[in-house]
Amino acid sequence: MHEEIINLLKNGNKLPEDAIDEIDNLDINQFSTTIKELGKQETEHIKSSKISKNLNTTYIGKNLYVYNEVNSTNTVAKFLSMQNVENGTVVISEKQKKGKGRSGKYWESPLGGVWLSIIFKPNVDQSKFPLITLATGVAVAKTLEKAGIENPEIKWPNDIMIDGKKVCGILTESVAKNNTIKNVVIGVGIDVNLETSQFPIELQKITTTLKEELGREYDENLLIQIFLEEFEKISELFNNEEYETILKEWRKRSYTIGKIVEVRKPFNPNFDAYVLGIDKEGALIVEKTDGTLEKVISGECIIKS
Ligand code: BTN
Repeated sequence: MHEEIINLLKNGNKLPEDAIDEIDNLDINQFSTTIKELGKQETEHIKSSKISKNLNTTYIGKNLYVYNEVNSTNTVAKFLSMQNVENGTVVISEKQKKGKGRSGKYWESPLGGVWLSIIFKPNVDQSKFPLITLATGVAVAKTLEKAGIENPEIKWPNDIMIDGKKVCGILTESVAKNNTIKNVVIGVGIDVNLETSQFPIELQKITTTLKEELGREYDENLLIQIFLEEFEKISELFNNEEYETILKEWRKRSYTIGKIVEVRKPFNPNFDAYVLGIDKEGALIVEKTDGTLEKVISGECIIKS
């Protein structure tokens, strides 16, 4: 957090290089106004005025913070969420230096992508949190459909795929205070106006970009506007506890159900299984090779066939 704030202040010319060493104990509250101010400037590609102009939402994205470069929008969003910003506040950055992927992986975030985090304050039991990621996946898939992609699919729990290649990842993190979950930060990274050749070689075959799929660039600001509208619709279903409707939308677009996968659960040996479906909590229900059923709440799965 300390490093993130220093970076923001440096990038916004609010802190000269030689002053950095003098800041030992950063008073977070003291800097929060500056961080908020920096997020109110227009950047070259992402323009809050464009996003807000036709934004048809009541609370999602009403408060936008846009940056040229941060380490991770999730980190900034977590910081802001502790400064009492409104529910539905969105943090966007044109680039991320240390974009965070799932399982501690690095997330490539060059100029041309959509890298954003939503501060969401749901009033629900912790057991419902996996559904937030699934709901966000549905919102992204619907956004891509509106952008002209015919059949975006969702790979459990959080990858959005086009023709078997990943175009978007979601990283949901919670902000706890005194052991109680206060806020949820939902980080969404969509490879929009990028070329897969910009990615490291090992990612090139397994990822795609909206530009490559559409054969043309797509306005990032419009994509963000559509996504925020889709997210608000699904968040309302979530807030009204209409979980089955969300799961129905998810199942319709599932890339995982009916496939043989390798299940990778933290601190457990990997195993192969057939995916039967997802249950009402968003857990994957799989049939192992010995015929027993297992519920996978967290982890990831590699599609085998
Ligand atoms: C994944 O591994 O699939 C999740 C990737 C999530 C990336 C997004 S980009 C915006 C937000 N900020 C981050 O540092 N990560 C998420």
